[in-house]
Amino acid sequence: MRSLLFIPADAPKKLEKGLTSGADALIVDLEDSIAPDRKKEARESAASFLQEATAKADRPRILVRVNGIETGLTDADLDAVVPGKPDAIMLPKAVGGPSVIHLDAKLTAREAIVGLPDGAITIVALATETAAAMFVAGSYAGSSARLTGLTWGAEDLSAELGAEANRDKDGNFLDPYRLARTLCLAGAAAADVQAIDTVYVDFRNMDGLRRECEEARRDGFTGKLAIHPGQVPVINEVFTPTPAAIAKARAVVAAFAAAPGVGVVGIDGVMFDRPHFARAQALLARAKAAGLG
Ligand code: COA
Ligand code: MG
Repeated sequence: MRSLLFIPADAPKKLEKGLTSGADALIVDLEDSIAPDRKKEARESAASFLQEATAKADRPRILVRVNGIETGLTDADLDAVVPGKPDAIMLPKAVGGPSVIHLDAKLTAREAIVGLPDGAITIVALATETAAAMFVAGSYAGSSARLTGLTWGAEDLSAELGAEANRDKDGNFLDPYRLARTLCLAGAAAADVQAIDTVYVDFRNMDGLRRECEEARRDGFTGKLAIHPGQVPVINEVFTPTPAAIAKARAVVAAFAAAPGVGVVGIDGVMFDRPHFARAQALLARAKAAGLG
């Protein structure tokens, strides 16, 4: 998933628009974009959208962001949305692997009730939204086979830290958030799941968005959260492997295929070893997912 577009669950017009936005995934939000006294309406709206949208043949993946386990609202959220068969649940304010295990158990029971196969609904966790979560970013590894991605957020973390800002005057994340970003990236790599970069809230600033996408891709993220449909084309473009990158990856895979049992090869005077081979294979898989070869 290159682009994952957040949509408040109580906004049917935006939900409808999301379907044709070009986003690889929609995140129907029951959490922070919904006022506390609107949670019930939001659940109902999410449920009816899921019933209609998940039946469509050609559609983006559909995630639902539930309220965090600490709120006591998660069970009612899941009761409302699991019958609509979302592809995944996004878990905010996760505090390491135990939070994912907790959600896994809640999903297992509900999948059985609605007749879905065990494990059908996957999990993407917001890995570093709380201070405590920063210290256990390595514990997502091995928590659940449902876990397919980790992402991170700067807004809740800065509120919890008591910070006045999370970006400097040039728009660059400050140290605590750069650490959260890195812990998310390392936590995702350790868990062998997708690392997804956080939202870029200045949604009319396409140059800033592009720069942040390019920095994320450079560092190992393979997708980014969006909050506005206008951000989707930029995110998709930056996270789609370029023809040059695909050609290079094919050359690496071909060189290893031509030398079975060998751990290291040379191409055009540059050394490639097993990690390069794994990276090339991952890039080709992403190219394929984007419809390129
Ligand atoms: N998903 C789908 N459609 C969206 C959208 C979204 N996230 N954000 C805006 N749109 C639609 C608008 O409804 C509008 O549609 P229209 O042209 O048919 O009227 C169009 O895109 C242009 O919207 P625009 O006027 O530029 O923005 P806005 O002022 O209506 O909305 C936000 C700004 C931030 C409120 C809105 O983008 C939004 O709700 N984003 C998601 C917020 C969220 O979920 N946050 C939680 C995670 S941090
Ligand atoms: Mg939040």
